Amino acid sequence: MTHAPLIAILPGDGIGPEVTAQARRVLEALGLGLAFEEAPVGGAAYRAAGHPLPPETLSLARRADAILFGAVGDPDFDGLERALRPEQAILGLRKSLALFANLRPARLFPGLEDASALRPEIARAIDLVIVRELTGDVYFGDKGRGITHTGLREGHDLMRYDEVEVARIARVGFETAMKRKRRLVSVDKANVLETSQLWREIVEEVARDFPEVELAHMYVDNAAMQLVRAPQNFDVIVTGNLFGDILSDQASMCVGSIGMLPSASLDQHGKGLYEPIHGSAPDIAGAGKANPCAAILSAAMMLRHSFGMSEPADRIERAVAAVLAQGKRTADLGGDCATGAMGDAIVAAL
Ligand code: IPM
Ligand code: MG
Repeated sequence: MTHAPLIAILPGDGIGPEVTAQARRVLEALGLGLAFEEAPVGGAAYRAAGHPLPPETLSLARRADAILFGAVGDPDFDGLERALRPEQAILGLRKSLALFANLRPARLFPGLEDASALRPEIARAIDLVIVRELTGDVYFGDKGRGITHTGLREGHDLMRYDEVEVARIARVGFETAMKRKRRLVSVDKANVLETSQLWREIVEEVARDFPEVELAHMYVDNAAMQLVRAPQNFDVIVTGNLFGDILSDQASMCVGSIGMLPSASLDQHGKGLYEPIHGSAPDIAGAGKANPCAAILSAAMMLRHSFGMSEPADRIERAVAAVLAQGKRTADLGGDCATGAMGDAIVAAL
């Protein structure tokens, strides 16, 4: 990279602006010579420009070397047709930029045992990554509403994957496992769904290139149960878009709070969008109650995955751990530390 790496900041709605502001502060404090440019997205962009993903925002996202995304979703716009809803911004970015591989790591920071929905000794042992496919499945299949021949209102969303889509995410799953404990669980619903049967076949084919990875298949209902029964048994989970959405929210509560989980959404060449897995939380927006840790940890993932800066990424993660170890907690973790104060403490701990 000959120029200063350009980071597009897309704060979005609700608590998005508050948490991305803290993540940006942390990045700036590291003095890495990064450049930042901000653009509206989601409901905020609809308000400003009449579209949740205006062309200027999309073109900034394309031009940038990496994207730091806040959250989208605004109850004011729940009544809009789907194409104009805030959520279309993130779905549009994922699709337009071909960000097919979503990495969602979940591990327990020491001290957060009491915030987990699980018993401390179970929570403490969690260290897993969900590799979620992000540009296919029911999210992007044919959708529609209609009237049945008996006059009933109906709706449909097509679940569909082709073999190339499955193979490339499976490969990311195996590669992720190779860098960790070399155990991969592929989650599907092959006892019911044709899509899942294809998924399983392709995952088996890709597995031949990774003989050192121990592969298991699991139905999604069983995976949901195992995630709370014995989460320590998971290393890497690879799964489709819908199942990954659900399992990653579940995993977040196993490690304390949805306010703690970062994510990276990567394309074939490693370009990435980084975002907390939580939503816009309109009920607490602007109240200084949001947990900035997921956004800050997303910034760390950005340094590591997009820029190969693993040393400053480690520094961010150690700073977050140190602040939590001091007992500082935002409301989601049962504390009363404000968003900005949490950011202050993390910057100080760098
Ligand atoms: C997520 C979110 C999104 C999704 C929504 C906001 C469209 O829940 O990133 O997990 O369903 O993918
Ligand atoms: Mg989700």
